[in-house]
This record gives sequence, C-alpha cells and structure tokens, in this order.
Amino acid sequence: MASAKLGSTALVSFLLLLATICDAQLSTSYYDSTCSQAAQIVEKQVNNILSGNPNLAGGFLRLIFHDCWVSGCDGSVTIKSTSDNSAEVDANVNFQLRAIDEIDQIKSAVETECPDTVSCADIIALAAQYATVFANGPSWTVALGRRDSRVSRANDADTQLPFPVLPFSGLVDNFANKGFSAREMIVLSGSHTIGHTHCNGIGPNLYNYTGQDSLNDTNPHLDTSFADSLKDTCPKGNRLNIVDMDSSPNTFDSGYFDGVLANKGHMITDDELIRGPSGDSIVQSLTQPGSSWNSEFASAMVKMIELSPLLSPDGEIRKTCQAIN
Ligand code: HEM
Ligand SMILES: *[C@@H]1O[C@H](CO)[C@@H](O)[C@H](O)[C@H]1NC(C)=O
Ligand SMILES: *[C@@H]1O[C@H](CO)[C@@H](O)[C@H](O)[C@H]1NC(C)=O
Repeated sequence: MASAKLGSTALVSFLLLLATICDAQLSTSYYDSTCSQAAQIVEKQVNNILSGNPNLAGGFLRLIFHDCWVSGCDGSVTIKSTSDNSAEVDANVNFQLRAIDEIDQIKSAVETECPDTVSCADIIALAAQYATVFANGPSWTVALGRRDSRVSRANDADTQLPFPVLPFSGLVDNFANKGFSAREMIVLSGSHTIGHTHCNGIGPNLYNYTGQDSLNDTNPHLDTSFADSLKDTCPKGNRLNIVDMDSSPNTFDSGYFDGVLANKGHMITDDELIRGPSGDSIVQSLTQPGSSWNSEFASAMVKMIELSPLLSPDGEIRKTCQAIN
C-alpha cells in the first residue's frame, strides 16, 4: 500500500517534470521556489515610481504592447542599440518610448533579492499590470516564466507594430495578424486613456490626412475647435511637444472613448475607430456606465502578454534589461 502510494507520487512528480521539460509554459507559480517575492517587489517599485510621476503609468502600459507585439513577449523592447545593431527601441514606431530606465530600476531591486532569476520580460509584464491598477484600471493575472531574448531589431518593430496613420481596415489587419479581433483592437485602443502623446503621432491627423502634406490637410472629421487647439500645441513639423491622451491622463476611464466619439481623436488611428464597420457602436457600448470594457480589456491583455512568450530552454535571464548578457 505504502509503496504503491510512493510509486504513484513518484510517477506524478516524474510526469510533472516531463511536462516542464517538454511543454514549458507560463505559470502563476513559476517563481514560487526561486523568488516568491518577485511580484511584490515589482509592485512596490512601480507604486513608488508612479507616486512621484503618475503619468508614467501610460509609459509602462505602452511598453508591454510594444514588447509582446514584436515576435512575442521576450523583453526585446528594452535592449539598447549597439554599434552593429539597431535595436527595437530605435524603431520609428517606438518614438519616445518611456519607462525603460524605470524597468531597469525595478530589475535591479529584483536582482538584489534574487540574482539571475527573474526575466526582464516578466518584469515588463508585471509592471504594466501594476501601472494600470495604479491608474485605477482593471487587474489581470500575469502568469510568469518568460525568458529574455538575445535579439532585438528595429526593423522587426517597424514591420509588426501599427503606425498611427492606419485606416480602420489597416488596424483590423494588424491585430488579426496577431490573432486579435476588431473588437479586441478597439477594446485595447482604450489604453489611450492614460499617458501622453507627442506631436509626432498627431501631425498626420492635422497636416497630412490625405497625403498632401499641407497646413490645411486636416482630418475633416475632427471637431474644428479641437483641431485648432491641437494645431496650437502641435505646429506643422513639430514632433516633440506633448499632449495628454485625454482630460484625465492619469486615470484609466472612458475619457478617451468619449473624446473619440466627440470627434476629438488625437491620431488618425484614434479617429478611425469610429469610421469602420460597427466601430462606432462598439465604442459607444464600451463607454456606457457598467459596460464590460474593463473586463474585456483585462482578457485581451492576458491574451497579449501570453503571445508567443520565449520559454525555457530558449533565451536567457538578462542581468540588466538594456543589454544581452
Ligand atoms: C491600435 C493601434 C495603436 C496605435 C497606432 C498606437 C499608437 C500610439 C502612439 C503614436 C502613441 C504616442 C507615443 C508618443 O508620442 O509618446 C501611443 C501612446 C500610447 N499607447 Fe498606443 N497605439 C495603439 C494601440 C495601443 C495598445 C493596444 C496599447 C496597449 C494595450 C497602447 C498603449 C499606449 C499607451 C498607454 C500610450 C501612452 C504612452 C505614454 O504615456 O508614454 N496603444 N500609441
Ligand atoms: C504624407 O503622407 C504621404 C502619403 O501617405 C507620405 O508619403 C509622406 O511621407 C507624408 N509626409 C509627411 C511629412 O509625413
Ligand atoms: C491649402 O493650403 C495650400 C498651401 O499649403 C494652399 O495652396 C491651398 O489653397 C489651401 N487650400 C484650401 C482649400 O484652403
């Protein structure tokens, strides 16, 4: 009896080991025996950073999108370029990406407690979740076990991430390429309720809507006084001035969708959400009090952070997030 029980326990352990080796996968208990405090360290660091700079929540949220969308969630987004490699961070589509130094600040706090154990990819995923919660947004489960890539190419980011000039159909295609529906694309675009944007992304909406590149080539859908005030902040050719994403840029609320519905989208792609088939009714439904936006957002984020993660034995645990080991 005892030996049969022992035998079956051993068998179960063996099968679990086999499953780990053959079918490595993300898991909420991944660091339980190696760094059980990993998530709490990240949470504390994110909260500390954001209490001094709440607008940076947007920086953390954009970062996970830009990591996962480019060949999966593998920490490739924070790697610095070197003399012989132009890294993702220097892609056009990654213009003014934020929170990269802060990710390394968090990483070093984690390294102090658990050296060479927790990947940058997992830290980026956790930070986006805690930042969203800090901004009063929904929470979701972050399964762990991503490994860090040794590859990061600017060109991969520029070919896989969406540019802010795409029409509705281009947005749908970009998200479909990653297995996301048009509705999920709209739900996730609601991220633009926090953080800020530079005039770089707004310019085409004001001065190059039809490709004529002139002062009056403005998106005709835009609310006129909104367009005028954007033009004050973003004169033609200006790339670096900063505009808040909505009137409450530190709070995850329906302000962004309300703006889009009022023809006050900053980028062409913000405005396009209501120009495609059923986009308008989807955005309207998501802004209703008690709508399912927050829960749909959380589900879509889980799907995003589990997009082809790099798993053991591939990749590495980087020592710092801005350079491969
Ligand atoms: C639908 C296609 C999308 C396009 C074309 C787009 C484009 C952009 C652009 C141009 C900016 C401004 C960057 C800057 O100038 O600083 C921005 C910011 C941002 N994006 Fe997106 N985005 C898209 C979808 C998403 C998604 C799916 C997420 C996350 C789930 C996201 C999260 C953010 C956040 C939070 C910011 C604010 C960044 C900050 O505060 O530093 N975006 N996006
Ligand atoms: C304006 O749009 C056209 C066509 O989309 C593009 O080729 C051109 O580079 C854009 N000009 C600027 C200044 O962005
Ligand atoms: C638009 O601006 C261009 C110069 O940038 C000017 O030649 C053209 O007449 C203007 N068109 C309208 C309709 O105002």
